Amino acid sequence: MTALLEASSPHVMNTYGRLPIALSHGQGCRVWDINGKSYLDALAGIAVNTLGHNHPKLVPALQDQIAKIIHSCNYYHVPNQERLAAKLVELSGMTNVFFCSTGLEANEAALKLARKFGHDKGIERPEIVVYDKAFHGRSIATLSATGNPKVQAGFGPLVEGFIRVPLNDMEALKNATANNPNVVAVFFETIQGEGGIHPMRVEYLQQVRQLCDERDWLLMIDEVQCGMGRTGKWFAHQWAGIVPDVMPLAKGLGSGVPVGAVVAGPRAANIFQPGNHGTTFGGNPLAMRAGVETIRIIEEDGLLAHAALVGEHLRAVLTHTLAAELANGGVKEVRGQGLMIGVELAKPCNVLTQRSADAGLLISVTADSVIRLVPALIMTLAQADEVAAILCPLIKALLAESA
Ligand SMILES: Cc1ncc(COP(=O)(O)O)c(C=O)c1O
Repeated sequence: MTALLEASSPHVMNTYGRLPIALSHGQGCRVWDINGKSYLDALAGIAVNTLGHNHPKLVPALQDQIAKIIHSCNYYHVPNQERLAAKLVELSGMTNVFFCSTGLEANEAALKLARKFGHDKGIERPEIVVYDKAFHGRSIATLSATGNPKVQAGFGPLVEGFIRVPLNDMEALKNATANNPNVVAVFFETIQGEGGIHPMRVEYLQQVRQLCDERDWLLMIDEVQCGMGRTGKWFAHQWAGIVPDVMPLAKGLGSGVPVGAVVAGPRAANIFQPGNHGTTFGGNPLAMRAGVETIRIIEEDGLLAHAALVGEHLRAVLTHTLAAELANGGVKEVRGQGLMIGVELAKPCNVLTQRSADAGLLISVTADSVIRLVPALIMTLAQADEVAAILCPLIKALLAESA
């Protein structure tokens, strides 16, 4: 099986460290591979399959849309663009939306907004504050904003105009920007995903919002991974009661159909003028229907409260089951919010992705030592228990190996 899969992609570029698994179909939080083996899915296509697999409300809606029109292009109005934009505006407290297809595109649009915001104010060399361990994508601009040297290696020269600071450190932010009239924006993920599930603290979020107001900077919050209900609120920064000026979205927005968006508040909504930005696929009828239906189903089925409840339960079970390892330091921390959970070990644990798949559970490992759990928002309490029941023995066994 392994040999077959490894030998079966001689023409696809070798850009991913793949497991020897090919998924065939899914139902809810359960997926099956082409050999019929079943897995509990705690990864959801990396925080994408918001409604799990083969959702009984989503699938007929998408089938209906595909039979009508998949793509039309932005020479014409797409009625569901306005519906989805109005909904995102209502949920975010912001005002306008630009649609694209991926997270990096949404971030690329945010970076362009920040630069033009500066140029419109007469700043010729605008600079944007970004963070250690951040991940914003793999285009040249977004990998330059990313705080991971491995992502950047081999792609220099990087785009200039970024100032990098540590997380949750107000003094560092003030010092790094002191007497710098070129700063135009602060850009971060509310909870860093790829960097290892590192949350920005509530007080820090509030203080940065205040600083951006005082200095006339844009507050740009990348909610590509932590947004769309994953933490139990529509957008993770809402736990701090703040509203950003620019918010890139993607991943969970279309429940698996590629949809990206950059949402802007009043200070950023009119920066782009006709001709400043655009994309062929962005906002196409299939993508917009997926976004509209995803939000409708999250609302109808009360999935925000559900995600908060199941996430809290899963964190509690993991914390309880790994109490000894937390006490002896083998497990450094169980952290996160809602259904965005990280379990940080004191040693690299990449081997757990394969071991866990062998045991019937799909997870990922980020930053070498952080197990990431980002299941569909429909995961049940019983399934959360099952995640812990499969995962915790694997963690204990791995930690015992080093002893
Ligand atoms: C926070 C964040 N921003 C941006 C991206 C890039 O999104 P995409 O892979 O859709 O380009 C990711 C992807 O993991 C992400 O987690």
